[in-house]
This record gives sequence, structure tokens and C-alpha cells, in this order.
Amino acid sequence: MFLCYYFSSLFYPVLLERKDRDGYMCTSKRFDKSYKIISNKEICAGYFELKIKVDAVSRYCYPGQFFMIDIPEVFLRRPISIHCIGKGTVSFLYSVVGRGTKILSEMGRSSGSVISRRGEGKDGCDEIKMLGPLGRGYGLTSNASSKFLSCVSFDSYEKKSCPKSRDISFNPVIVAGGTGIASVHFLATKLSRKGILCYGVHSKKDLLCLDKFKKMGWEIVISTEDGSKGYRGYITDVLSENLKAGDTLFACGPIPMLKKVLRIAREKNIKGFVCLEEKMACGIGNCQGCAVKINGENKLTCKDGPVFEIKDVEL
Ligand SMILES: Cc1cc2nc3c(=O)[nH]c(=O)nc-3n(C[C@H](O)[C@H](O)[C@H](O)COP(=O)(O)OP(=O)(O)OC[C@H]3O[C@@H](n4cnc5c(N)ncnc54)[C@H](O)[C@@H]3O)c2cc1C
Ligand code: FES
Repeated sequence: MFLCYYFSSLFYPVLLERKDRDGYMCTSKRFDKSYKIISNKEICAGYFELKIKVDAVSRYCYPGQFFMIDIPEVFLRRPISIHCIGKGTVSFLYSVVGRGTKILSEMGRSSGSVISRRGEGKDGCDEIKMLGPLGRGYGLTSNASSKFLSCVSFDSYEKKSCPKSRDISFNPVIVAGGTGIASVHFLATKLSRKGILCYGVHSKKDLLCLDKFKKMGWEIVISTEDGSKGYRGYITDVLSENLKAGDTLFACGPIPMLKKVLRIAREKNIKGFVCLEEKMACGIGNCQGCAVKINGENKLTCKDGPVFEIKDVEL
């Protein structure tokens, strides 16, 4: 089985990128091809989980990375984070916000009232074209992250170049806002330690993945803006009381939430990473459309990020 995966991967269009000129570690391979959609289920109103058969490509996916998804009838590909990987599969968790994600939500669904054949492949299965995995994920941002790297289980990634020790003590605190939960879920499945998930949404109907985090043994703190579950207000209102010296923060969500996370982390001198979901057009560093200020320099979210160290980010 392993040999099958290995040899089939040799024939994919591959771009090798082990270390870039700044010495940063990046994704080792990226692929631009069509895949079969296994399922595209509405898990609750307006939120979908899309599962794709990617075979060997799943071995190159790392928490915090994303794919640019080619959606029929829309001009630009849309960036969506890797939500989880299985044996030869990649899943995405996305919300329907505009035309692209609306069309995406109709792909690969042939039951109920929605019978869509957009992107139909040769054998009748829906196919989807994607470019990725792209970007630098959690812990791949700089050499300073080596302590963090040691804390992640690298079952499926860069076996040779990453340390595997799991005995460094660190306490992860994940902060997720809205669909930011998608990328941090994949991270949580790979961290060697469980910690606290601080998760903020508009209303309790927007809460996703709670069972998955509970099953993994994470403590969960919830906030809703309408007060329908947990603390009434923003998750950053209750973040300080859930943080202690030595914790490591991982945050993904809307920019206003991330700004507050950065302020709190700096006040408390806490290290960690933020994942920026800037608007993207090309996703591979060609259009310069996703520039952010990192350590006083312009960097590209798609290529240099989307995950950056808290100490470097200026929002
Ligand atoms: C690295 C990254 C990871 C992401 N991961 C997820 C995820 O896991 N789940 C999820 O639900 N959403 C995710 N997003 C946001 C998602 O890309 C947008 O919701 C989506 O592109 C909207 O497309 P649309 O056509 O439906 O909306 P429209 O508003 O019609 O999109 C128009 C244009 O704006 C861009 N755009 C719009 N909103 C965003 C946004 N918030 N971020 C980036 N580009 C945007 C689109 O790419 C497109 O070019 C991610 C964004 C980035 C940058
Ligand atoms: S999206 Fe084009 S450079 Fe980042």
C-alpha cells in the first residue's frame, strides 16, 4: 500500500520547496490537479464539510496550510484551510458567504433537492481542481519555532527533517473565531498535548467541531455575541483569565479578534502563532495582493504565512 502511494506520487506535477532563501521551512510539495469529491455535507445551516480523495497528497498537508480551490463559474480560486486529513483524504470546513462558496456547496451533492453536476468527471463523480497544500503552517514560520516543532506529532509530514520528541512541556491555548476553527482543528489533531480551546462565534448555531475537540480531550471555553451559549460577548474578553505564563497561543479568526489576541499575548508575554486569513487572489506569491507587515517588512500572507509568530505580526 505504502509503495503504491509512493510511486503514484512520483507522477504528480510537483514543485519541490524544502527551505526557501530566508532559511524558512515550507511545504515540501504542492500539487495542481483534479480530485474526486467523496462528500460535501451541510453539517449545520450554512456550514459544509467537503471531503476529497487526494491519495498520497494527504502526506504533504500540514496544520495551517490551505488549498486554492477552483470553483466552476467564478474567476479566482478560493483559499480554504485544511480542516483534517484521513487516509488519502483531505477535508475542508467552510461557510457559505458569497458566490464562490455557494457554488462550492452545490458540488458533489446528488441527494435531496440539490442535484448538482458542476465539475462532473468522466465516470459521473464530481471532480474538483485544487492547488496545494500551500503556505507555511503553525510552527513552520521560523527557526525560533523549533521548540514548538518538537511538540507536534509528525506522523504524516517531513519525517526526516522534523524532530519527533514529544516530551517538551508546553500548554497549548487555541483561540478560534468563527470559521477559524477549521484550521485549528487540524492543528489540535497533531499537537502532542491537549489544552484549552477558547472559541467565539455569533450565536450557538455557529458552533462547529465541539464534539471533535471534546473527544480529543480539550477543555472548551465558549463565547457567543448574542449570549445563546457560554459567555456573552467576545472570546477575547475571557482570554486573559484562561492564559498563564508559559502557555503557547495559536489563534485563527477575524482580524479584530486577532488584534486583541496580539495585545493580550504581548501584555502577558506569551508566545505563539496567528493565522491570517487575508483576501487572496493567486495564493502563490505572484499578485502581491495579500501583503501584511511582519517585523517591519512587507510579507505575503499566502507565501510567507498564513501563520506568523505573534512577536512579528503588526496588525
Ligand atoms: C488562508 C485562508 C484560509 C481560509 N480558510 C477558510 C476555511 O477554512 N473556511 C472558510 O469558511 N473560509 C476560509 N477562508 C475564507 C474564504 O476564502 C472566503 O470565505 C471565500 O474565499 C469567500 O469566497 P466567496 O466567493 O464565497 O465570497 P466573495 O465575497 O464573493 O469572494 C470574493 C473574493 O474575495 C475573496 N474573499 C472573500 N472573503 C474572504 C476572506 N474572508 N478571506 C479571504 N478571501 C476572501 C475571495 O477569495 C474572492 O476572491 C480562508 C481564507 C484564507 C485566506
Ligand atoms: S494572493 Fe497573490 S501574492 Fe498572495
